Amino acid sequence: MTCQPSVSTRSGVDAFLVMDMLRIANELEAAGDDIVHMEAGQPGTGAPSTVIEAAKAALDSQKLGYTESLGMPFLREKIAAYYKLKYDVTIAPERVVVTTGSSGSFVLAFLVAFEVGNKVALPTPGYPAYRNILNALGVQTPPIETTAASRWVPQPGDLDKLAEQGPLHGLLQASPNNPSGTMIKPEALKALVEKCQDLGLWFISDEIYHGLNYEMPATTALQFTDEAIVINSFSKYFCMTGWRIGWMVVPERLVRPLERLAQSLFISAPTLSQIAGAAAFEATDELEQRKAVYATNREILLTQLPKIGLDEFLPVDGAFYLYADVRKFTNDSYDFAQRMLKEIGVSVTPGADFDHARGSHYVRLSFAGTSSSVEQAVQRLGGWLNR
Ligand SMILES: Cc1ncc(COP(=O)(O)O)c(C=O)c1O
Repeated sequence: MTCQPSVSTRSGVDAFLVMDMLRIANELEAAGDDIVHMEAGQPGTGAPSTVIEAAKAALDSQKLGYTESLGMPFLREKIAAYYKLKYDVTIAPERVVVTTGSSGSFVLAFLVAFEVGNKVALPTPGYPAYRNILNALGVQTPPIETTAASRWVPQPGDLDKLAEQGPLHGLLQASPNNPSGTMIKPEALKALVEKCQDLGLWFISDEIYHGLNYEMPATTALQFTDEAIVINSFSKYFCMTGWRIGWMVVPERLVRPLERLAQSLFISAPTLSQIAGAAAFEATDELEQRKAVYATNREILLTQLPKIGLDEFLPVDGAFYLYADVRKFTNDSYDFAQRMLKEIGVSVTPGADFDHARGSHYVRLSFAGTSSSVEQAVQRLGGWLNR
C-alpha cells in the first residue's frame, strides 16, 4: 500500500464564484449563445495606447531582465509623483513597492504585518481574496457586517466591539468598494484611521478603484497618516488587468522587510509591465474617455433597473459595480444567477462571493463593458423578471 502526501488544509480556501460564472458563461458562448458579461470585474477594453507603445518599444530595445525587488526606480518615482498630482500628498519614492498586481501586494503586506493566529477585521460584503489569502497565511478574519444603511462602510465602534472580544491586529478597508461601489467619506476614513491608531491596529487601505469615482473625489488614507499600508494597481482605472502590475505605499520601517520578502517570493514584478505601467500615467485623456463610458453605463442602470422592479441598491459612488438586493425575487442568489445566465444569457455574480452570511440575497452587476451591452442586459432582465 502506498501512502500519499496530503494536501494542506491552508489551501482549502473558497472558490471564486465569479470565476465559476465566467467559465459557464464562456462555455455557453462557445456553444453559440449570445452572452452579456456582467460578472467579471474588469474593464471591457485593453490597455491605453501609451502603454502599448511603451511595451512595443521595450520589447524591441530592452533586455527585460529582473529589476530591483522593490520595482524600477523611475516607476516608483512616477507613482510617488502621481500622489502629489492627484491628492497633493508628498511621499518619498522609496516608500513605493511595485508588485505583481495588487494581489502581490496583499501577500507581501499580510506577511510583513501579521503573525499566524492574528486577527484582521474584514468589512463584509467585501472582496473575497482578502479572506482567502489571510486564511491561507494562518490569519483569522473576523467579519464586520456593514449595512446598506451605513452605505456598507464600517464604523469605528465596530472595531471597539471586536477588540473587546480579544486581541485584534488590523483592518482592511476598501473604497470604492467591491461589490457595492460605495465610497467612504473623508471624515469617516479619518475616523477609522484614528481608531486603528488608538487600538494599535494596522490600517490597510485598498484603493484599487481610485480614479473610478462618479459622485465625490476619492480620499487616500495617506492624506491622514504615513502609518497606513495603501494598496493600488494598474488593473482597474488604467485598464491593465492582465499585465499583473500594482503597487503599495508603506511606512518607511516596512520597506526593508518587504524588500527581503519580495526578493524571495517574487524576485521582481514583470519588467515589461513595469515599463508599460509608467506610460499609463500619460494616458489620462484616453482613460477619462473610458471612465465616461462607465458613467453612462451607471446612469443606464440607475435609471432603468428600478423601472423593471430591481430597485434595492445604493447608487454606486465609484468602481463599476452595482450590488442589488434581489430578495423579492429569490432567497438563493446563486440559483437565481445560474438561471438568469441559462435563460436570458445575462451573467452576474452571486453575492455569496462577497458575503457568506447574507450574500444569498444579493447579486453584483459589473458594468465595465459597452453601453449597448448594458442596455441589452436591462432589456433582457425586464422581460425575465416580469414574465
Ligand atoms: C477590491 C479589489 N482589490 C484587489 C483586486 C485584485 O486586483 P489586481 O491583482 O489585478 O491588482 C481586485 C480584483 O478584482 C479587487 O476587486
